[in-house]
Amino acid sequence: MRLHKNLPIILLIIVLIYFLPAFLASYAGGHTMESANATELNCLTCHDYIARELNFTTSSRSVLNSHLQAANNTNYTTFIKYGYHYNASEGRIYTTPDPSKWDSGSLAESTTYIYYVSGSWIGNRSGVIQYATVNLERNGLPGIQMEESCIFCHSADIHSASTHTGVTVVGCTDIKCHGNSSGIGYGKEFYPTVMTGYNLSNNNVHSNWFKSMGNRTSPYDYTIHGSNVTADYFTCMGCHTYVQVNANITWPSPYMHDNFSAPKVRYP
Ligand code: HEC
Ligand code: HEC
Ligand code: HEC
Repeated sequence: MRLHKNLPIILLIIVLIYFLPAFLASYAGGHTMESANATELNCLTCHDYIARELNFTTSSRSVLNSHLQAANNTNYTTFIKYGYHYNASEGRIYTTPDPSKWDSGSLAESTTYIYYVSGSWIGNRSGVIQYATVNLERNGLPGIQMEESCIFCHSADIHSASTHTGVTVVGCTDIKCHGNSSGIGYGKEFYPTVMTGYNLSNNNVHSNWFKSMGNRTSPYDYTIHGSNVTADYFTCMGCHTYVQVNANITWPSPYMHDNFSAPKVRYP
């Protein structure tokens, strides 16, 4: 009976013990609510180690600089979010993946493209004319700095993914980034060197490695821009970062030159 009487108090103590650290964790320090918009979170508050990795050597800095430059190109960032084809002379980004609707001039349906007018991209995709420019500038300093760069590759909004935090992960082989082994890659409309995923899957000594990785699921196994995030981008990481690669290479069986009756084969 005594236990029964004390039960609410014991429960209260348990509840307090359970929640106390959580309250402390939430309220220690500042009292400013971060915005629910990922573009206003400062990623470096928690992920400074990533910034240090990106800025670690001269080569890693040159890769970082290329991505900062791309992130600062509002034509390209707008294209990543909405587009499949850029027609500079028409001043349009076609938002349909169907090539038969591209470059249609005055015949194009107004829902199939966004257009550039007086410094902004404008869209009429839903029948409502809307501002469409994607600009990653946040801190007011000219150019894109490290803390603004994260969103270039991790913004759920730009990559048309839906997540609670507004943050997502895309592989390098997104069709809007470096292309993939299906041969699709639209990023080349801005940067010719960007088609690495496509080139790697075609006539390249490392194609087999790249393609077999593409048949495996990555930890981020979801669809971005209409194609799956597979593990093929690990190949890029394998050569371009210090990450350790354990490769199991299956060698082709050798042709027996000393055996006259061995069937004739071509080297693969
Ligand atoms: C308040 C701290 C905090 C901030 C600010 C923050 N993150 Fe994180 N983030 C974390 C923690 C903690 C994890 C690890 C979660 C885990 O290990 O499952 C994480 C994980 C991630 C991951 C890995 C997700 C995965 O599935 O592997 C990515 C990518 C990421 N954050 C990107 C960002 C970006 C981009 C920003 C800025 C928009 C950001 N984060 C801001 C704390 C933060
Ligand atoms: C050029 C594109 C790119 C940029 C810029 C970029 N990331 Fe990433 N990030 C990736 C990719 C791709 C992965 C997945 C890597 C993997 O699967 O190993 C990743 C993974 C992560 C992860 C999870 C893995 C880990 O090591 O914890 C975090 C956290 C993260 N990024 C944070 C950031 C932050 C913070 C910034 C800005 C300083 C940033 N990223 C800038 C492409 C990028
Ligand atoms: C087998 C190793 C290897 C793999 C896998 C690899 N790269 Fe490379 N990459 C290189 C080397 C080596 C160079 C320098 C080539 C040169 O200087 O001619 C390079 C150059 C580049 C360049 C510079 C511009 C260019 O195209 O020449 C980019 C961008 C690039 N790689 C991105 C990627 C991406 C994205 C992936 C994954 C889709 C990838 N790489 C996979 C080895 C690799």
